[in-house]
Amino acid sequence: MTAEPTLVQGAASLISANMSASTQRRPAETRTYDRLTGRTALVVGGARGMGEATARLFHAEGAVVVIGDVLDDLGTAVADDLGDRAVFVHLDVRSDDDWAAAHSVAVSIGDAPVTAYAHPAAIASFSYIADLSPADYEASIAVNQTGVFRGIRSCIPGMTEAGGGAIVTVASVDGVGAHPGLAGYSSAKFALRGLTRVAALELADRGIRVNCIVPGGIDTPMIRPREVDPAVLDPLARQVPLGHVGDAGELARAALWLVSDESSYVTGTDLIVDGGLMARVPLNLG
Ligand SMILES: NC(=O)c1ccc[n+]([C@@H]2O[C@H](COP(=O)([O-])OP(=O)(O)OC[C@H]3O[C@@H](n4cnc5c(N)ncnc54)[C@H](O)[C@@H]3O)[C@@H](O)[C@H]2O)c1
Repeated sequence: MTAEPTLVQGAASLISANMSASTQRRPAETRTYDRLTGRTALVVGGARGMGEATARLFHAEGAVVVIGDVLDDLGTAVADDLGDRAVFVHLDVRSDDDWAAAHSVAVSIGDAPVTAYAHPAAIASFSYIADLSPADYEASIAVNQTGVFRGIRSCIPGMTEAGGGAIVTVASVDGVGAHPGLAGYSSAKFALRGLTRVAALELADRGIRVNCIVPGGIDTPMIRPREVDPAVLDPLARQVPLGHVGDAGELARAALWLVSDESSYVTGTDLIVDGGLMARVPLNLG
């Protein structure tokens, strides 16, 4: 007679089966429904990656889209490709003047203040704390944390005037757990989840909702420069219960839901979009 596996043996075999099986991949949603017609959207970090996908999706949903980024050539190309209802503005998230200019452009081309603001812009760099200078740590905070604070502040007058709006910040699984070497990035991403909640509480009575997307791995230039073979991400994909690293478009769909009226009762929350990565307790039972 074969002995029943212990709980630990059973769990370990389930985990290893899950990590090696090729997961059936469902096609991502591609339909659009005019959810943002009549809205002016500001997508910051919209020149590439998740931001580009978000700008394209918001545009497809009918919004007038202002794309802000420091990558002028790429951002201009995205806006030109979208054509009508899209414009690129040079926007360094560290500059209050750039934020003000972006809102002026938004009002002039959208004929209404920004009521949908998504902020995927971020930088990531790797260094252990022992080797990380305070200046480099602060540089990461300036973009990844204070830059979002500036962006939220900049949106308040227009959204208040419009009677409401929706703000989407973007943290990371590194804002919930951590990896060595990412002190600046991770500190900022933890902070964003707190900033999002405070803003949600302070702005609720103005009809402004504020939510935070928490992505897992996304196949963007942040983790894979386009000239690098996509197979470099296979080890990461094998750890994801849904079996693949996220597409930028899958993250954009989450941002769309959060700025649209479909999430009208959602504020101050984290929306984890990680293919199930963080659902598993990271304890090796084998
Ligand atoms: N790619 C991933 O695996 C991953 C995982 C978890 C979280 N995220 C988060 O998702 C978001 C989107 O990242 P991505 O993967 O698309 O990265 P990306 O590097 O492809 O795009 C980031 C964009 O932000 C812009 N940017 C950087 N500094 C800026 C500044 N000072 N002012 C304005 N724009 C600036 C960049 O030019 C770029 O267009 C980020 O917040 C990132 O931290 C990404």
